[in-house]
Amino acid sequence: MPNNLATSFSCQLVLVIDLFIIISPSSAYNVVSFGARGDGRTDSTSAFLRAWTAACNSVTPASVSVPRGIFLIRSVSFVGPCKNRILFQISGTLVAPDNYNVVGNSQFWILFYKVSRLSVVGGIIDAKGSKFWSCRRSGGNCPRGARSISFQWCSNVIVNGLSSFNSQTVHMAINECSNMKIQNMKITAPSGSPNTDGIHIESSRGVTITGCTIRTGDDCISIGPGSMNMYMDNIGCGPGHGISIGSLGNGFNEDGVQNVTVTNSVFTKTQNGVRVKSWARPSGGYAKNLVFKNLIMRNVANPIIIDQRYCPGNSCPHQSSGVRVSQVTYKNIKGSSSTQAAMTFRCSSTNPCSGIRLQDIKLTYVNTLKRPTVSYCENAGGSTTGAVLPRSCW
Ligand SMILES: *[C@@H]1O[C@H](CO)[C@@H](O)[C@H](O)[C@H]1NC(C)=O
Repeated sequence: MPNNLATSFSCQLVLVIDLFIIISPSSAYNVVSFGARGDGRTDSTSAFLRAWTAACNSVTPASVSVPRGIFLIRSVSFVGPCKNRILFQISGTLVAPDNYNVVGNSQFWILFYKVSRLSVVGGIIDAKGSKFWSCRRSGGNCPRGARSISFQWCSNVIVNGLSSFNSQTVHMAINECSNMKIQNMKITAPSGSPNTDGIHIESSRGVTITGCTIRTGDDCISIGPGSMNMYMDNIGCGPGHGISIGSLGNGFNEDGVQNVTVTNSVFTKTQNGVRVKSWARPSGGYAKNLVFKNLIMRNVANPIIIDQRYCPGNSCPHQSSGVRVSQVTYKNIKGSSSTQAAMTFRCSSTNPCSGIRLQDIKLTYVNTLKRPTVSYCENAGGSTTGAVLPRSCW
């Protein structure tokens, strides 16, 4: 067994033993005993809610368990605070109704709100988003669309071993949360599915994402304003748009992003590898202390990119980004680029990028003409150590 697998198994084992010790059988609430049916047809929403309410009111640690089977649920909010810690153990599959309007008019499908000390273990969630995407593509009168699983105002949460398929919009959203661990998650949607980001984080601190495989139609992971202390390790991304910080600087009064690490990860045929993206508009935002290291790029269009001229719909003519990007380290990044510009630093003319450190980079161009890769810079400066290919602009 490879080492990393062994580690992930032993982690899960420790988690299971921990949970076994803290959960006594008397406080286990099975959704089926509250009326849920795993037949794929019966609406089990209110049964899930009753099981949640019972668990949440338990003064001893409690579990909500979802056995094997396919459970149909509409938009549902699991609201805290709860009286003690909760284990949400899913052995089965949760599916959304076939009619995409049922959850699509809400912004969420499964929402945890103001919950702390929660573990969500196992499970498959399938929003069946394809008809919703078709509606969007045809430009019809579609609902806004739902994020599959959201955490809002939550803390001390572990999500381990969850799989998410075909969300209408974002698969997992984390907003205003702290101390979250997302482990061994699998996210799957077609490469052409619109706005199906894997994990979107905003206004949160202390989020670690480890051992996740994300194949989707938009960013594998995106980090919005007001986020700090993010750690991403052992991520497989692709297809998708890569791991993005941004879009930042859409609003003028915006919190910055700081202390973000992406390490030991592989990007396969993605649009970007690691990206920082900001609107070309005035803003008080910033992105600083970012570390991207030990990454493998396989046939990635923009393996390393900072783009501060983001302006879809040309809504910001002749403006520059107010977002200050500084102290960004790229270290030990190897592999192939599907375009010649393997490194792009398109920074703001009014707020140039500073402190960009490049160390041990080797990105080659996938082409038949054996042309070398190049870097492209605007308003960017920093330092170089070790061998760096393509050569930096400074
Ligand atoms: C940066 O984030 C990591 C991961 O969350 C955390 O362990 C570390 O303490 C943070 N560093 C600072 C200086 O806050």
